[in-house]
Amino acid sequence: MHITAMKKTAPGIIESDISGTIEGIALCGGAGVSFPVILSVRGEILHNHSHSNIMQDGDLLVNDSGAESMMHYAADITRTFPVNGKYSLKQKEVYEIVLKAQMDAIEALKPGIMYRDVHLLAARIIADGLKEVGLMKGDMEEAVLQGAHALFFPHGLGHMMGLDVHDMENYGEDLIGYDETVQRSDQFGLAYLRLAKKLEPGFVLTVEPGIYFIPDLINQWKKAKKFENFIEYKNVEKYIGFGGIRIEDDILVTEDGHRVLGRPIPKTVHDVETMCQSL
Ligand code: GLY
Ligand code: MN
Ligand code: MN
Repeated sequence: MHITAMKKTAPGIIESDISGTIEGIALCGGAGVSFPVILSVRGEILHNHSHSNIMQDGDLLVNDSGAESMMHYAADITRTFPVNGKYSLKQKEVYEIVLKAQMDAIEALKPGIMYRDVHLLAARIIADGLKEVGLMKGDMEEAVLQGAHALFFPHGLGHMMGLDVHDMENYGEDLIGYDETVQRSDQFGLAYLRLAKKLEPGFVLTVEPGIYFIPDLINQWKKAKKFENFIEYKNVEKYIGFGGIRIEDDILVTEDGHRVLGRPIPKTVHDVETMCQSL
């Protein structure tokens, strides 16, 4: 599904052409998609299920989609790639930050670690990266503690998966992702973390950091002078229209670490560009 999307996407094509094609692949190979396909050049709109944009040269496409097996086990994978097959310098800079956050977070997965700490590790990498490109400033340890990075990374790092894409959450998100050792935060961003508790062998979960430029949120925070000491608004405003980048994989926690599930799907800038440019 993801490779087909990379190969078929091109400027001038409507998103539904790609989302319909990949949904067809899921139907051909199993029980269909595990959740409604999220495929949009407006990737900054989280859980955006509209597929009506005509994709343009210079756009980034977020493809968050997965198939369900005949036994109803769900997959949930995201790749973000350039519609024209080549990331611009600006897109590449932000992509590399998200990729580092995702790969370092995956590397940290092992039994005994709190998923909340893995989320905070990813948040810190995102904040440090954004400081390097001039979008944040000041002490990034303090910025993450106070939640300033959530302007760009407003959701949780991941969630449990299994016979549903957000496994058993209808039973109660806090009953699944939290326990007596960890309370849900009320801070914007961290509050939306669906899984926070200590990892155990056998857990299957997603790692899905992202960086988004959400025009209304940027304007709202700027107007309220929120975190002016950490956010370089005059530079952030230049990214309005950029969209969003998310990278997501599904991971099994093993006795001694973790294993990324499924066949590898291109993820580095080089591998994604090569796949986008191949027929
Ligand atoms: N596809 C929904 C999610 O990533 O949680
Ligand atoms: Mn997803
Ligand atoms: Mn997910």
